[in-house]
Amino acid sequence: MNNILKLTRPDDWHIHLRDGKALKQTVKDAARTFGRAIVMPNLIPPIKNAQQATCYQQRILNECPNNSQFQPLMTLYLTDNTSSNDIKIAKESGNIYAAKLYPAGATTNSDSGVTSLTAIYPTLATMADYGLPLLVHGEITRPDIDIYDREKYFIDEQLNQLVKEFPNLKIVLEHITTKEAIDFVLEAPVNIAATITAHHLLYNRNDMLVGGIRPHYYCLPIMKRNSHQQALIKAAISGNPKFFLGTDSAPHPQFKKEASCGCAGCYTAYAAIELYTEAFDRANALDKLENFASYFGPNFYGLPANQDTITLVRRNWQAPYTIPFGDEQLIPLRAGEIIQWQCLNENTHE
Ligand code: NCD
Ligand code: ZN
Repeated sequence: MNNILKLTRPDDWHIHLRDGKALKQTVKDAARTFGRAIVMPNLIPPIKNAQQATCYQQRILNECPNNSQFQPLMTLYLTDNTSSNDIKIAKESGNIYAAKLYPAGATTNSDSGVTSLTAIYPTLATMADYGLPLLVHGEITRPDIDIYDREKYFIDEQLNQLVKEFPNLKIVLEHITTKEAIDFVLEAPVNIAATITAHHLLYNRNDMLVGGIRPHYYCLPIMKRNSHQQALIKAAISGNPKFFLGTDSAPHPQFKKEASCGCAGCYTAYAAIELYTEAFDRANALDKLENFASYFGPNFYGLPANQDTITLVRRNWQAPYTIPFGDEQLIPLRAGEIIQWQCLNENTHE
Protein backbone atom coordinates (compact mmCIF):
# COMPACT_ATOMS: atom_id res chain seq x y z
CA MET A 1 0.00 0.00 0.00
CA ASN A 2 1.31 3.40 -0.95
CA ASN A 3 1.51 5.61 2.17
CA ILE A 4 3.49 8.54 0.83
CA LEU A 5 2.81 10.42 -2.34
CA LYS A 6 5.04 13.11 -3.80
CA LEU A 7 3.45 15.27 -6.46
CA THR A 8 4.61 18.13 -8.62
CA ARG A 9 2.81 21.05 -6.97
CA PRO A 10 -0.80 21.03 -8.21
CA ASP A 11 -2.95 23.98 -9.37
CA ASP A 12 -6.64 24.67 -8.94
CA TRP A 13 -8.26 25.57 -12.27
CA HIS A 14 -11.54 26.79 -10.71
CA ILE A 15 -11.90 28.45 -7.32
CA HIS A 16 -14.03 31.11 -5.62
CA LEU A 17 -11.96 33.27 -3.27
CA ARG A 18 -14.60 35.99 -2.69
CA ASP A 19 -13.36 39.41 -1.56
CA GLY A 20 -12.75 41.70 1.43
CA LYS A 21 -12.29 40.07 4.82
CA ALA A 22 -13.03 36.60 3.40
CA LEU A 23 -9.75 36.64 1.47
CA LYS A 24 -7.63 36.12 4.58
CA GLN A 25 -8.89 32.56 4.94
CA THR A 26 -9.67 31.63 1.34
CA VAL A 27 -6.28 32.72 0.02
CA LYS A 28 -4.45 31.00 2.88
CA ASP A 29 -6.31 27.77 2.13
CA ALA A 30 -5.72 27.93 -1.62
CA ALA A 31 -2.04 28.91 -1.26
CA ARG A 32 -1.49 26.07 1.23
CA THR A 33 -0.90 23.49 -1.51
CA PHE A 34 -1.73 25.00 -4.90
CA GLY A 35 0.79 26.89 -7.03
CA ARG A 36 -1.81 28.74 -9.08
CA ALA A 37 -5.56 29.09 -9.15
CA ILE A 38 -8.02 30.27 -11.76
CA VAL A 39 -10.04 32.77 -9.74
CA MET A 40 -13.74 33.03 -10.51
CA PRO A 41 -15.07 36.53 -11.19
CA ASN A 42 -18.60 36.20 -9.70
CA LEU A 43 -18.21 38.89 -7.07
CA ILE A 44 -20.97 41.40 -6.37
CA PRO A 45 -20.59 43.34 -8.62
CA PRO A 46 -18.78 40.93 -10.97
CA ILE A 47 -15.26 41.40 -12.38
CA LYS A 48 -16.09 42.66 -15.86
CA ASN A 49 -12.89 44.22 -17.16
CA ALA A 50 -9.12 44.03 -16.94
CA GLN A 51 -8.83 46.96 -14.58
CA GLN A 52 -11.20 45.43 -12.04
CA ALA A 53 -9.40 42.09 -12.37
CA THR A 54 -6.01 43.67 -11.73
CA CYS A 55 -7.26 45.45 -8.58
CA TYR A 56 -8.88 42.20 -7.37
CA GLN A 57 -5.66 40.32 -8.04
CA GLN A 58 -3.76 42.82 -5.90
CA ARG A 59 -6.22 42.36 -3.02
CA ILE A 60 -5.62 38.61 -3.26
CA LEU A 61 -1.84 38.99 -3.39
CA ASN A 62 -1.98 41.20 -0.30
CA GLU A 63 -3.36 38.20 1.61
CA CYS A 64 -0.82 35.68 0.37
CA PRO A 65 1.23 34.12 3.16
CA ASN A 66 4.82 35.42 3.11
CA ASN A 67 6.46 32.18 2.12
CA SER A 68 4.02 31.30 -0.65
CA GLN A 69 4.55 31.89 -4.35
CA PHE A 70 0.82 31.49 -4.96
CA GLN A 71 -0.28 33.01 -8.26
CA PRO A 72 -3.92 34.02 -8.71
CA LEU A 73 -4.83 33.76 -12.41
CA MET A 74 -7.65 36.18 -13.11
CA THR A 75 -10.79 35.79 -15.20
CA LEU A 76 -13.45 38.08 -16.66
CA TYR A 77 -17.17 37.66 -16.11
CA LEU A 78 -18.92 37.75 -19.48
CA THR A 79 -22.11 39.80 -19.70
CA ASP A 80 -24.32 40.68 -22.66
CA ASN A 81 -22.20 43.84 -22.92
CA THR A 82 -18.67 42.39 -22.88
CA SER A 83 -17.06 43.74 -26.03
CA SER A 84 -14.25 42.51 -28.26
CA ASN A 85 -12.28 45.47 -27.00
CA ASP A 86 -12.72 44.29 -23.38
CA ILE A 87 -11.22 40.96 -24.45
CA LYS A 88 -8.35 42.61 -26.30
CA ILE A 89 -7.46 44.76 -23.29
CA ALA A 90 -7.79 41.75 -20.98
CA LYS A 91 -5.46 39.65 -23.07
CA GLU A 92 -2.93 42.46 -23.38
CA SER A 93 -2.97 43.04 -19.60
CA GLY A 94 -1.18 39.69 -19.21
CA ASN A 95 -3.17 39.07 -15.99
CA ILE A 96 -6.27 37.47 -17.45
CA TYR A 97 -6.27 33.82 -18.36
CA ALA A 98 -9.89 33.15 -19.29
CA ALA A 99 -13.42 34.55 -19.44
CA LYS A 100 -16.32 32.91 -17.68
CA LEU A 101 -19.75 32.29 -19.11
CA TYR A 102 -22.51 32.14 -16.54
CA PRO A 103 -25.90 31.69 -18.16
CA ALA A 104 -28.00 34.36 -16.38
CA GLY A 105 -29.52 32.95 -13.19
CA ALA A 106 -27.66 29.62 -13.36
CA THR A 107 -25.91 29.84 -9.99
CA THR A 108 -24.69 32.01 -7.11
CA ASN A 109 -24.12 35.62 -8.22
CA SER A 110 -24.97 35.01 -11.87
CA ASP A 111 -27.66 37.66 -12.28
CA SER A 112 -25.48 39.71 -14.64
CA GLY A 113 -24.70 36.64 -16.73
CA VAL A 114 -25.28 36.19 -20.44
CA THR A 115 -28.93 36.03 -21.50
CA SER A 116 -28.30 34.98 -25.10
CA LEU A 117 -25.17 33.28 -26.36
CA THR A 118 -25.59 34.50 -29.90
CA ALA A 119 -25.54 38.10 -28.66
CA ILE A 120 -21.91 37.66 -27.58
CA TYR A 121 -20.73 35.74 -30.65
CA PRO A 122 -18.47 38.62 -31.79
CA THR A 123 -16.86 38.64 -28.33
CA LEU A 124 -16.34 34.87 -28.48
CA ALA A 125 -14.79 35.23 -31.94
CA THR A 126 -12.27 37.66 -30.46
CA MET A 127 -11.52 35.23 -27.64
CA ALA A 128 -10.84 32.51 -30.21
CA ASP A 129 -8.53 34.87 -32.13
CA TYR A 130 -6.61 35.79 -28.98
CA GLY A 131 -6.49 32.24 -27.61
CA LEU A 132 -8.35 33.25 -24.44
CA PRO A 133 -10.19 30.20 -23.05
CA LEU A 134 -13.92 30.29 -22.41
CA LEU A 135 -14.90 28.75 -19.07
CA VAL A 136 -18.48 27.55 -19.08
CA HIS A 137 -20.96 27.01 -16.30
CA GLY A 138 -22.84 24.48 -18.40
CA GLU A 139 -26.41 24.61 -17.18
CA ILE A 140 -29.53 25.73 -19.00
CA THR A 141 -31.75 27.92 -16.86
CA ARG A 142 -35.15 27.51 -18.54
CA PRO A 143 -37.70 26.83 -15.79
CA ASP A 144 -39.22 23.88 -17.65
CA ILE A 145 -35.94 21.94 -17.47
CA ASP A 146 -35.49 19.68 -14.46
CA ILE A 147 -32.55 20.76 -12.32
CA TYR A 148 -30.95 17.32 -12.73
CA ASP A 149 -31.05 17.69 -16.53
CA ARG A 150 -29.72 21.23 -16.79
CA GLU A 151 -26.20 20.16 -17.78
CA LYS A 152 -27.33 17.72 -20.44
CA TYR A 153 -29.71 20.27 -22.00
CA PHE A 154 -27.00 22.93 -22.02
CA ILE A 155 -24.76 20.60 -23.99
CA ASP A 156 -27.50 19.63 -26.44
CA GLU A 157 -28.99 23.07 -26.97
CA GLN A 158 -26.00 25.40 -26.68
CA LEU A 159 -22.57 23.87 -26.35
CA ASN A 160 -22.70 21.63 -29.41
CA GLN A 161 -23.56 24.63 -31.53
CA LEU A 162 -20.92 26.80 -29.88
CA VAL A 163 -18.16 24.29 -30.61
CA LYS A 164 -19.22 24.11 -34.26
CA GLU A 165 -19.42 27.88 -34.56
CA PHE A 166 -15.97 28.48 -33.00
CA PRO A 167 -13.80 25.50 -33.84
CA ASN A 168 -10.66 27.21 -32.52
CA LEU A 169 -12.07 28.50 -29.24
CA LYS A 170 -10.60 26.79 -26.17
CA ILE A 171 -13.48 25.80 -23.91
CA VAL A 172 -13.46 24.32 -20.43
CA LEU A 173 -16.75 22.80 -19.36
CA GLU A 174 -16.46 23.51 -15.65
CA HIS A 175 -17.27 21.20 -12.74
CA ILE A 176 -18.88 18.50 -14.84
CA THR A 177 -21.38 16.22 -13.13
CA THR A 178 -22.82 13.86 -15.73
CA LYS A 179 -21.93 10.99 -18.04
CA GLU A 180 -23.34 13.12 -20.87
CA ALA A 181 -20.77 15.84 -20.17
CA ILE A 182 -17.94 13.31 -20.15
CA ASP A 183 -19.08 11.81 -23.45
CA PHE A 184 -19.38 15.26 -24.96
CA VAL A 185 -15.83 16.19 -23.94
CA LEU A 186 -14.42 12.86 -25.11
CA GLU A 187 -15.96 13.27 -28.54
CA ALA A 188 -15.09 16.95 -28.92
CA PRO A 189 -11.84 18.24 -30.46
CA VAL A 190 -8.67 18.71 -28.36
CA ASN A 191 -9.51 22.32 -27.55
CA ILE A 192 -12.44 21.21 -25.37
CA ALA A 193 -11.67 20.11 -21.79
CA ALA A 194 -13.40 19.82 -18.41
CA THR A 195 -12.67 20.28 -14.74
CA ILE A 196 -13.89 17.86 -12.08
CA THR A 197 -14.38 18.76 -8.41
CA ALA A 198 -13.35 16.61 -5.43
CA HIS A 199 -16.90 16.66 -4.07
CA HIS A 200 -18.43 15.30 -7.28
CA LEU A 201 -15.85 12.47 -7.18
CA LEU A 202 -16.54 11.65 -3.53
CA TYR A 203 -20.29 12.10 -3.25
CA ASN A 204 -23.59 11.75 -5.04
CA ARG A 205 -27.11 13.00 -4.39
CA ASN A 206 -27.80 10.30 -1.82
CA ASP A 207 -25.15 11.85 0.39
CA MET A 208 -27.03 15.13 0.14
CA LEU A 209 -30.58 13.86 0.55
CA VAL A 210 -30.88 10.47 2.26
CA GLY A 211 -31.69 10.65 5.97
CA GLY A 212 -32.19 14.42 5.86
CA ILE A 213 -31.22 17.39 3.71
CA ARG A 214 -27.56 18.27 4.13
CA PRO A 215 -27.18 21.81 2.84
CA HIS A 216 -23.38 21.74 2.86
CA TYR A 217 -23.48 19.22 0.01
CA TYR A 218 -25.65 21.50 -2.07
CA CYS A 219 -23.74 23.04 -4.95
CA LEU A 220 -24.39 23.77 -8.59
CA PRO A 221 -24.34 21.85 -10.79
CA ILE A 222 -26.18 19.71 -8.27
CA MET A 223 -24.76 16.28 -7.37
CA LYS A 224 -26.27 13.57 -9.55
CA ARG A 225 -26.98 9.87 -9.06
CA ASN A 226 -24.28 7.32 -8.29
CA SER A 227 -23.85 6.14 -11.89
CA HIS A 228 -22.77 9.67 -12.86
CA GLN A 229 -20.37 9.79 -9.92
CA GLN A 230 -18.84 6.53 -11.13
CA ALA A 231 -18.48 7.93 -14.65
CA LEU A 232 -16.72 11.01 -13.25
CA ILE A 233 -14.27 8.84 -11.29
CA LYS A 234 -13.57 6.83 -14.41
CA ALA A 235 -12.88 10.00 -16.42
CA ALA A 236 -10.66 11.53 -13.72
CA ILE A 237 -8.47 8.42 -13.42
CA SER A 238 -8.47 7.70 -17.16
CA GLY A 239 -5.24 9.57 -17.86
CA ASN A 240 -7.03 11.57 -20.55
CA PRO A 241 -5.55 15.12 -20.49
CA LYS A 242 -8.97 16.65 -21.20
CA PHE A 243 -9.97 16.13 -17.55
CA PHE A 244 -8.19 18.08 -14.84
CA LEU A 245 -8.50 19.48 -11.34
CA GLY A 246 -10.81 22.38 -10.50
CA THR A 247 -12.19 22.40 -6.95
CA ASP A 248 -15.04 24.89 -7.37
CA SER A 249 -14.44 25.54 -3.69
CA ALA A 250 -17.19 28.08 -3.01
CA PRO A 251 -17.46 29.47 0.52
CA HIS A 252 -20.69 30.79 2.02
CA PRO A 253 -21.37 31.78 5.62
CA GLN A 254 -23.08 29.09 7.69
CA PHE A 255 -26.28 31.11 8.09
CA LYS A 256 -26.74 31.42 4.32
CA LYS A 257 -26.43 27.70 3.73
CA GLU A 258 -28.46 26.56 6.72
CA ALA A 259 -31.51 28.54 5.71
CA SER A 260 -34.99 27.99 4.30
CA CYS A 261 -33.53 28.96 0.91
CA GLY A 262 -29.91 27.87 1.30
CA CYS A 263 -27.36 28.95 -1.27
CA ALA A 264 -25.19 26.74 -3.50
CA GLY A 265 -21.51 26.01 -2.95
CA CYS A 266 -19.23 23.57 -1.08
CA TYR A 267 -16.07 24.70 0.70
CA THR A 268 -13.24 22.27 0.06
CA ALA A 269 -10.12 24.47 -0.30
CA TYR A 270 -8.95 23.76 3.26
CA ALA A 271 -8.35 20.09 2.30
CA ALA A 272 -8.72 20.06 -1.46
CA ILE A 273 -5.71 18.03 -2.57
CA GLU A 274 -6.27 15.62 0.33
CA LEU A 275 -9.87 15.03 -0.76
CA TYR A 276 -8.81 14.40 -4.36
CA THR A 277 -6.13 12.01 -3.08
CA GLU A 278 -8.78 10.11 -1.14
CA ALA A 279 -10.96 9.85 -4.24
CA PHE A 280 -8.08 8.55 -6.39
CA ASP A 281 -6.98 6.21 -3.59
CA ARG A 282 -10.46 4.70 -3.31
CA ALA A 283 -10.33 4.05 -7.05
CA ASN A 284 -6.88 2.43 -6.72
CA ALA A 285 -5.48 5.09 -9.01
CA LEU A 286 -3.03 7.14 -6.94
CA ASP A 287 -0.59 6.89 -9.84
CA LYS A 288 -3.04 8.89 -11.98
CA LEU A 289 -3.38 11.81 -9.58
CA GLU A 290 -0.27 13.80 -10.53
CA ASN A 291 -1.18 14.23 -14.18
CA PHE A 292 -4.76 15.19 -13.29
CA ALA A 293 -3.72 17.62 -10.54
CA SER A 294 -0.44 19.06 -11.78
CA TYR A 295 0.08 18.62 -15.55
CA PHE A 296 -3.12 18.44 -17.60
CA GLY A 297 -4.37 21.85 -16.42
CA PRO A 298 -1.24 23.85 -17.28
CA ASN A 299 -0.95 21.90 -20.55
CA PHE A 300 -4.41 23.02 -21.58
CA TYR A 301 -3.75 26.65 -20.63
CA GLY A 302 -0.36 26.61 -22.38
CA LEU A 303 1.57 27.19 -19.15
CA PRO A 304 4.53 25.30 -17.66
CA ALA A 305 3.91 22.91 -14.78
CA ASN A 306 5.09 24.02 -11.34
CA GLN A 307 8.72 23.29 -10.49
CA ASP A 308 8.45 22.22 -6.86
CA THR A 309 6.61 19.39 -5.14
CA ILE A 310 4.23 18.63 -2.29
CA THR A 311 4.20 15.48 -0.19
CA LEU A 312 1.05 13.73 0.98
CA VAL A 313 0.99 11.05 3.66
CA ARG A 314 -1.71 8.55 4.49
CA ARG A 315 -2.64 9.78 7.95
CA ASN A 316 -6.07 10.30 9.52
CA TRP A 317 -6.88 13.77 10.78
CA GLN A 318 -10.12 15.42 11.76
CA ALA A 319 -11.52 18.19 9.61
CA PRO A 320 -12.47 21.35 11.52
CA TYR A 321 -16.15 21.85 12.41
CA THR A 322 -16.03 25.48 11.38
CA ILE A 323 -13.65 27.81 9.55
CA PRO A 324 -13.50 31.60 9.98
CA PHE A 325 -14.99 33.48 7.05
CA GLY A 326 -14.62 37.25 7.42
CA ASP A 327 -16.87 38.28 10.33
CA GLU A 328 -18.80 35.02 9.94
CA GLN A 329 -17.91 31.35 9.93
CA LEU A 330 -18.46 28.62 7.37
CA ILE A 331 -19.02 24.89 7.62
CA PRO A 332 -16.59 23.11 5.32
CA LEU A 333 -17.38 19.95 3.43
CA ARG A 334 -16.49 16.97 5.70
CA ALA A 335 -16.75 19.17 8.82
CA GLY A 336 -15.67 17.22 11.91
CA GLU A 337 -15.09 14.03 9.93
CA ILE A 338 -11.91 12.10 9.23
CA ILE A 339 -9.79 12.88 6.19
CA GLN A 340 -7.39 10.09 5.29
CA TRP A 341 -4.53 11.98 3.67
CA GLN A 342 -2.54 14.97 4.81
CA CYS A 343 -0.18 17.29 3.00
CA LEU A 344 3.16 17.61 4.82
CA ASN A 345 4.87 20.68 3.50
CA GLU A 346 1.95 23.10 3.60
CA ASN A 347 2.77 26.65 2.67
CA THR A 348 6.34 25.84 1.87
CA HIS A 349 6.83 26.70 -1.73
CA GLU A 350 10.54 26.11 -2.16
C1 NCD B 1 -20.58 28.88 -6.82
C2 NCD B 1 -20.51 30.08 -5.87
O1 NCD B 1 -20.95 29.96 -4.73
O2 NCD B 1 -19.99 31.12 -6.27
N1 NCD B 1 -21.52 27.94 -6.30
C3 NCD B 1 -21.59 26.63 -6.58
O3 NCD B 1 -22.55 25.97 -6.18
N2 NCD B 1 -20.65 26.03 -7.26
C4 NCD B 1 -20.91 29.31 -8.19
C5 NCD B 1 -20.67 28.25 -9.23
O4 NCD B 1 -19.54 27.90 -9.53
O5 NCD B 1 -21.65 27.73 -9.77
ZN1 ZN C 1 -17.64 27.73 -9.43
